[in-house]
Amino acid sequence: MTFPTHFMWGAATASYQIEGAIHQDGRKDCIWDKLAKGHVPFDETGEIACDHYNHLEEDVALLKQIGLKAYRFSIAWPRIIPNGTGNINQKGLDFYLKLVKLLKEANIEPMVTLYHWDLPYDLFLQGGWKNENSPLWFESYVRVVVNALAPYVKYFITFNEPNCFIGISYEGAEHAPFLNEPSSLLPCTRNVLLAHGRAVHVIRELAPHAQIGYAPTGAIYTPTDNSKDAIDSARDLTFSSTRSAFSTDWWIDPVILGSFHQNALAKMGVTEVFTKDEWALVTSKIDFLGFNVYQSTGQEVAGSKYPSNRYCGSPVTAMDWTITPESIYYAVKFLQDRYHLPILITENGMANTDFLMLDGKVHDPQRIDFMHRYLLALEKAIDEGYDVIGYTYWSLMDNYEWACGYKYRFGLIYVDYQTQKRTLKDSANWYKEVIATNGQNL
Ligand code: BGC
Repeated sequence: MTFPTHFMWGAATASYQIEGAIHQDGRKDCIWDKLAKGHVPFDETGEIACDHYNHLEEDVALLKQIGLKAYRFSIAWPRIIPNGTGNINQKGLDFYLKLVKLLKEANIEPMVTLYHWDLPYDLFLQGGWKNENSPLWFESYVRVVVNALAPYVKYFITFNEPNCFIGISYEGAEHAPFLNEPSSLLPCTRNVLLAHGRAVHVIRELAPHAQIGYAPTGAIYTPTDNSKDAIDSARDLTFSSTRSAFSTDWWIDPVILGSFHQNALAKMGVTEVFTKDEWALVTSKIDFLGFNVYQSTGQEVAGSKYPSNRYCGSPVTAMDWTITPESIYYAVKFLQDRYHLPILITENGMANTDFLMLDGKVHDPQRIDFMHRYLLALEKAIDEGYDVIGYTYWSLMDNYEWACGYKYRFGLIYVDYQTQKRTLKDSANWYKEVIATNGQNL
């Protein structure tokens, strides 16, 4: 038996991508509400999304039906403190209290991500993550959330993918706030990492029983063959800030090793980012490392027009992401060899062109095969002795795929955005079996 007995088989979502109800019960705008227009096909936003805010009981019942052991979701800061700082909105807190209580009743472990990109718009007007007060803003918000949820929640995750909400949002203008200001990378990196450290302290103080994690992503290079040299070289590429602030090491090295790669420092134009005291805060102990992994990053191959992870006709998802199951194996291997923390796969999944078929069902054999391959690769890492505590598939349900709007579907559950009717896809039923047999049927 490979998967540990208490392996946390789960699924993940994020507040902005599913909740909708953006002006209900006191929530105010976040950066995506105000800034997505002009950057997303059809100017789509999360205004309605899956209207999860008004389908809470139904959605938890579906989680239960799939037999999920864990559910990773995020809290919408603008629901809790609508202006970003100041007044607390009890109705916003009540929604998440209801959610965690329903999960507990259903025997599903709640995993709370404190920030998955929905920054209150008022804070953006003050510079967002560039503002040196942003770590304090975040700390105050986290205090409110943890104070309310601590009795029900064991797993807290500070940030989801600073690689994206800074790396491709303040440079490259792909995500809100759609800026292309490389000079912002230094203040944003400082502030997000200090905010992470402050959050860790608050969680330890208010929830001493908690397991605290972090959910970055980043480029995972995979070796071009099985030789030790090729593996070492893929590892070096993975941890040398080759992809600016999208890089894997950029956001994890400081938190766990207390350092930056020289390429990151060069990019930020400094030789040091933190004082000694700030470093102590940034490296506050966490308990597990979450990681979101979808595909490998290709290396250039001499004499070939294809990178190492592609060939003519190689398999890709609907979003043209490579189907490269070895990426999950190497992610676990490289991350644990370097950081020595238990790993939680906080996201993994695929976009597919799912639709409701004539028989009223959603057949998604591509997703089943994708999950099967990636889970076998994960199992290989576990077999080799790597400590992996869980896997939360992205995503529980189809949702707002940020700058791509509603075009791509990642869910185990199909959502008809016209009627809000939910339909379990074949993959949900397949995953149910995987969970029920603890992966023995793979
Ligand atoms: C994010 C999710 C997103 C998914 C697919 C991750 O970058 O955390 O919010 O929907 O990948 O793009």
